[in-house]
Amino acid sequence: MIRSATIHDVPRISDIINSHAELGKMLFKSYAQLFEDLRDFAVYEDPATSEVVGCVALSIIWADLAEVRSLAVDDSQRGKGIGSQLVKWTIDEGRRLQVRRIMSLTYEQRFFEKLGFVVVAKETLPLKVWSDCVRCPKNENCDEIAMVLTLSDIPQPQLPDATPTPRGVSIPVLQHLGD
Ligand SMILES: CC(C)(COP(=O)(O)OP(=O)(O)OC[C@H]1O[C@@H](n2cnc3c(N)ncnc32)[C@H](O)[C@@H]1OP(=O)(O)O)[C@@H](O)C(=O)NCCC(=O)NCCS
Repeated sequence: MIRSATIHDVPRISDIINSHAELGKMLFKSYAQLFEDLRDFAVYEDPATSEVVGCVALSIIWADLAEVRSLAVDDSQRGKGIGSQLVKWTIDEGRRLQVRRIMSLTYEQRFFEKLGFVVVAKETLPLKVWSDCVRCPKNENCDEIAMVLTLSDIPQPQLPDATPTPRGVSIPVLQHLGD
């Protein structure tokens, strides 16, 4: 029961994401950010209750790269395959958009490995990926794992490559106020 998100889903998406953000597992999202990115979102609706119990977003980074973001399943519904179905939605969406690589920055390495993602060096990803780091409390001490799934049936785009993160440039970029 996965469908594209609508305006009416925003409060529920906010609850699901921010309950995990409080535990440090993901970044907080404000209503403003959710409205702005809403077209990227899909939700999982429990067929029995019609309640939204999971969400995910696929954000396009570059011609050959899109990122799985805001993946979360309500605590009470874990382990039922909902998270996997949401990631599969992003893969279908990536294929529809003809984006060849799908990435995730995650603590859930085993979960993503089961879905075919492999660990890559963070430095291989373009700098644009790290735009959210300025909002992250972990900031320079990022311990997320970068993982990528390549859809090898999708041709390489005839467009310029995004500049990867230059060696020696630490992520993220803003200094603390008062430094
Ligand atoms: C990670 C998360 C989305 C998984 O959702 P889920 O609906 O519980 O996952 P699924 O039921 O689809 O699990 C699929 C498989 O991955 C395994 N799996 C799920 N979470 C796992 C974990 N943390 N570690 C190892 N394996 C895990 C499951 O056992 C299952 O294995 P199986 O296919 O052999 O039975 C969910 O736990 C969650 O919301 N976590 C908090 C937020 C978060 O960390 N989001 C990821 C940000 S990138």
